[in-house]
Amino acid sequence: MDIVIFADLKVAADINELANKVTLMLKGHGLDVLINNAGISSKFTKLKLVKEKDLTEHFGVNTIAPILMTKAFLPLLMNGRNNNGNNGIVVNMSSILSSIKENTTGGFYPYRTSKAALNAATKSMSIDLKKDNITVISLHPGWVKTDMGGTHAPLTVQAAVINIMKFIENITPEHSGLFYNSDGEELPCDVDDYDENDSYDEEFNDLVTVDDDLPIIIRWTMEKSLVQF
Ligand SMILES: NC(=O)c1ccc[n+]([C@@H]2O[C@H](COP(=O)([O-])OP(=O)(O)OC[C@H]3O[C@@H](n4cnc5c(N)ncnc54)[C@H](OP(=O)(O)O)[C@@H]3O)[C@@H](O)[C@H]2O)c1
Repeated sequence: MDIVIFADLKVAADINELANKVTLMLKGHGLDVLINNAGISSKFTKLKLVKEKDLTEHFGVNTIAPILMTKAFLPLLMNGRNNNGNNGIVVNMSSILSSIKENTTGGFYPYRTSKAALNAATKSMSIDLKKDNITVISLHPGWVKTDMGGTHAPLTVQAAVINIMKFIENITPEHSGLFYNSDGEELPCDVDDYDENDSYDEEFNDLVTVDDDLPIIIRWTMEKSLVQF
């Protein structure tokens, strides 16, 4: 049975109300998996175009909401049951654009910084919640055909969801605190923590050519969805 409850995750009171409603619905059972999926992206934002409001909004939805969601759902997650020795699992939906190591094109200040901060939160949660057997990871879902990913994305939502669910089924406590692609590959959050010859930055450089002073090109880039979020 699918049950949908609407909440504005920018509003802390909505998050607490959401957790209360889910607690009532679960009637004493725990929550096995919390996927902090909601996110926003203002697309390609070079430094000259950055606005305070955008930065604040992105941190609100992409960083603060997943932290408050995890806090609010903690009692339920502690009673969750998963395979492989986990109680609850928290999946923070991040993006390869959060990777400091992979950033060779700049820009995207609101999105990159808020998702990088989310990865930092994932790490802290993994340490804080280890004693409760709660596993916390950051996940890049791939480039997916959604409103954010656009029509040029190679992955359908269905294919992405299948990958993500398969990955979640195989999560162990050893995964906690790390950043993964949905195919299970570990991704770099930081400047030095990855040494494989991966292709993300080359792929990305090929796709993005934007002049700061030409918003029309930025719009064109957005419309053509040439950017992997
Ligand atoms: N698509 C990609 O290629 C891609 C790549 C890397 C990472 N991601 C990440 O994957 C996650 C899902 O992205 P998506 O592609 O599905 O994006 P999307 O098509 O733009 O959908 C975003 C979702 O977040 C919800 N949301 C936004 N602000 C919210 C708020 N204040 N309160 C509650 N819900 C809110 C939206 O709800 P409404 O529809 O009600 O506004 C919508 O359901 C995001 O975290 C994104 O950063 C996506």
